[in-house]
Amino acid sequence: MPALCRMANSDRQTGEVKGEMTAYEKLQFELKAKPKTWLVTGGAGFIGSNLVETLLQLGQKVVALDNFATSKKRNLEEVKKLVAPSQWRRFQFIEGDIGDLKVCQRACRRVNLVLHQAALGSVPRSIEDPLTANENNVTGFLNALVAARDNEVKRYVYASSSAIYGDAPELPKKEDRIGRPLSPYAVTKYVNELYANVFARCYGVETIGLRYFNVFGPRQDPDGPYAAVIPKWIAAMMKNDPVQINGDGETSRDFCYVDNAVQMNLLAATTTNSKAVNQVYNVALDERTSLNELFAMLRERLLPHYPHLNRYKPVYRGFRAGDVRHSQADIGKGRRLVGYAPTHRVEQGLDILVSEGAGFIGCNLVRYLLRRTSHSVVKVHEQLRCAPVSGKTDPGGHSERVARRADPAVYGRGENVWLRRGKNRLWESQAPDRRPDKQRAPPDNRRYASSPEG
Ligand SMILES: NC(=O)c1ccc[n+]([C@@H]2O[C@H](COP(=O)([O-])OP(=O)(O)OC[C@H]3O[C@@H](n4cnc5c(N)ncnc54)[C@H](O)[C@@H]3O)[C@@H](O)[C@H]2O)c1
Repeated sequence: MPALCRMANSDRQTGEVKGEMTAYEKLQFELKAKPKTWLVTGGAGFIGSNLVETLLQLGQKVVALDNFATSKKRNLEEVKKLVAPSQWRRFQFIEGDIGDLKVCQRACRRVNLVLHQAALGSVPRSIEDPLTANENNVTGFLNALVAARDNEVKRYVYASSSAIYGDAPELPKKEDRIGRPLSPYAVTKYVNELYANVFARCYGVETIGLRYFNVFGPRQDPDGPYAAVIPKWIAAMMKNDPVQINGDGETSRDFCYVDNAVQMNLLAATTTNSKAVNQVYNVALDERTSLNELFAMLRERLLPHYPHLNRYKPVYRGFRAGDVRHSQADIGKGRRLVGYAPTHRVEQGLDILVSEGAGFIGCNLVRYLLRRTSHSVVKVHEQLRCAPVSGKTDPGGHSERVARRADPAVYGRGENVWLRRGKNRLWESQAPDRRPDKQRAPPDNRRYASSPEG
């Protein structure tokens, strides 16, 4: 992994020693040498599709199961573009619901390792509809766990949540000190942990639970009432819509770039440390970023591409009931037992999403406009105050990809577009490779962005 994307060696977060490989680096070599078969439930979702992408790039065989409840097929189409054809041939997708035990049984067949991500996220959604949250997150979880047991899967790694900490006041959060759950969603994740523990005792299933803190990154959905804060704010800033901050903006979260979550999944699934198994781990950075700081970071990164942000300010409204004031994880347990060493700080993750991703933002905006409205291409250009450049080639190939991604019904197939904002080209053809650690071969492969999740 190039030094560029590592945190400084001296950094308290990394535990990395100069010249030595991290546990994750070693693991990547081992996986390439001895590929395994993985099931990623929720594989079309934000975290799931990032897992699929990394696993395929490491030459693994991957089965993904998803019912597209909260995700779109295009996430997988995008993964397809980001991996080599030979890697994609090792991918199998099953469209189905984890509520159906038979589907789970089929998906687990001949699988070595399960990364269970499928669930209905969002605290407010679970408060509105606790029954559906329970069906998906508890019954579905149990089905997947039973199927893993019946198929003698080597290990079942599953997505838990920082919501588990509920009303516990301590900071940073340590795995063994949780409070009372504050939402149905938190209950479902707590029940997951209880079931995993019981399955280890009763049936000898190896499980590891990952308590994600606010994970962010490419392919996180910016739309809808339950969207996470980072993709939602990026979309609002790009469109010059107001960004709303609940409370005074000093509420803080431990935002975690998705590559760190991917790393933790792979380490947890493969660790040979017997003490590390049948445990739960925080997945975060052990850092706090306030919403005001987050706003400033995003604005700073977007400003060069969106001059309208020059005088842009957030709108403050009342505190949201039930929101935890501060959240920060102790990540010492993961570091000690499985060798977790986050590679991306918040700033680096945001850089990937924003500063270096002008193409990504452009693509995302075009896609957003096309999806949300019946705008023709011309209208899209008008809205962006940019114009197609005819008779020129687009060296980065971005326009071609947008044309391919966009709905051909509203966006003529093969139509070539080169977006411009004033004199500045919106898409850079020579933008640096934003994720050099992931064998991202073609530099023109752009990623998409996407609320605080608990
Ligand atoms: N993103 C975060 O910050 C965060 C924080 C804490 C916990 N989590 C947990 O991590 C996991 C992944 O979250 P995400 O952010 O990628 O969300 P996501 O909504 O993008 O992904 C979840 C995926 O699961 C699928 N799914 C939902 N119900 C299903 C069902 N019954 N059958 C099959 N597929 C189903 C959805 O279609 C979606 O593709 C979830 O379990 C979530 O609760 C996420």
